[in-house]
Order: sequence, then structure tokens, then C-alpha cells
Amino acid sequence: MDVLTAINQRRSVRAYKDTEVEEDKLNKILEAARLSPSSSNRQEWKFIVVKNKETRKKLANAAMGQYFIGEAPVVIVACGTDAKSIMLCGQPAHTVDVSIACSFMILQAYELGLGTCWIGAFKEDEVKKILKIPESVRVVAMTPLGYPNQPPLQKFRKGLDQIVCFEKYE
Ligand SMILES: Cc1cc2nc3c(=O)[nH]c(=O)nc-3n(C[C@H](O)[C@H](O)[C@H](O)COP(=O)(O)O)c2cc1C
Repeated sequence: MDVLTAINQRRSVRAYKDTEVEEDKLNKILEAARLSPSSSNRQEWKFIVVKNKETRKKLANAAMGQYFIGEAPVVIVACGTDAKSIMLCGQPAHTVDVSIACSFMILQAYELGLGTCWIGAFKEDEVKKILKIPESVRVVAMTPLGYPNQPPLQKFRKGLDQIVCFEKYE
């Protein structure tokens, strides 16, 4: 599968089959995160793989009760381990770095036939408590991971003419 096909066909998956994710597939997805670029190649990140059913349910509760998170056999919680580093452009490095790694994981998962859904609506303090994440570490995102149990949804996106301009901001 070429990259643009994966980008085009991937959808957020909010219903999962009760089928385990094979270890070799999970490892490939984590490898995609490991190989991702990061600011100054610092790789200040940690990816927590959660399979325990009770813990998954707790994470779903911490994410405003988005129950499908707990339905998936795996949840990956993506953390930035250095929240203090601000790039010259003013953006916090960890948010950008971890988001890139999550994006790469999501695309790799898609190629392997697995569904994901970027979860940004969660109470960070609750997630940290559930997973014993140290105070200084920030939770950037999490995603359920599993085999989709929903038909492919339509994709709605703005046209290129609406989001691209040339030579100056228009
Ligand atoms: C930063 C971010 C946070 C998101 N948070 C949630 C979330 O908490 N729950 C959810 O169901 N979807 C969440 N999404 C998924 C978006 O709703 C989804 O990507 C968007 O509607 C486009 O649909 P698609 O992913 O199927 O192409 C999030 C996506 C991003 C990028």
C-alpha cells in the first residue's frame, strides 16, 4: 500500500471486534513510532501499551466515557517525557514529536488492517493516575487499536483551494 492510499482510506474507528491484535503487528506499529522524527532527534517519548480490560475501561471513563476505547483489545497511550522543551518557533516540542509518532503509528496500523482513533478528549490527571505516569510527563494522545467493526465511513475534507496559498498568506 502506498502512503497516500493509506492516508486517503484511513478513518477513525469507533467500533472494534473482540479479536486480539497479533504481537508482530503490534510491534510493527510501535516500530513506526520508534522510527519517527523528533525535534533534535531527542525521542523524548513513551508509549504505554494497555491490554488489561479493567485498565482499558478506566481509560475510557477518563476519556469522557468514550466506551469504544475500552472495547478495543489494545489502547496505546502516547506521552511526552520532556514537557519543558520549547522550540525556537514557540511550539512545545513534545506535543509535535508525539503527534508525529502517533500519526505514523496510525498509518502503519491501517496498512495492517487495524483501526485506530486519535483520542484527545481525556482528563490527563485521571489517565496519569490510572497508569502511574510521573507528574512531569505529559499525556499527548491515546488511541484504541483493534480490528474495525464498522463499515468504512465517508471522508469530508476541505478542498486544496481552501487550504493552500502560494507565496503569501491569503
Ligand atoms: C487531535 C485530535 C483529537 C481527537 N479527539 C477525538 C476524541 O476524543 N474522540 C473521537 O472519537 N475522535 C477524536 N478525534 C478524531 C476526529 O474526530 C477525526 O479524525 C475527524 O473527525 C476526521 O475523521 P477521520 O479520522 O475518520 O478521517 C480526534 C482527532 C484529532 C486529530
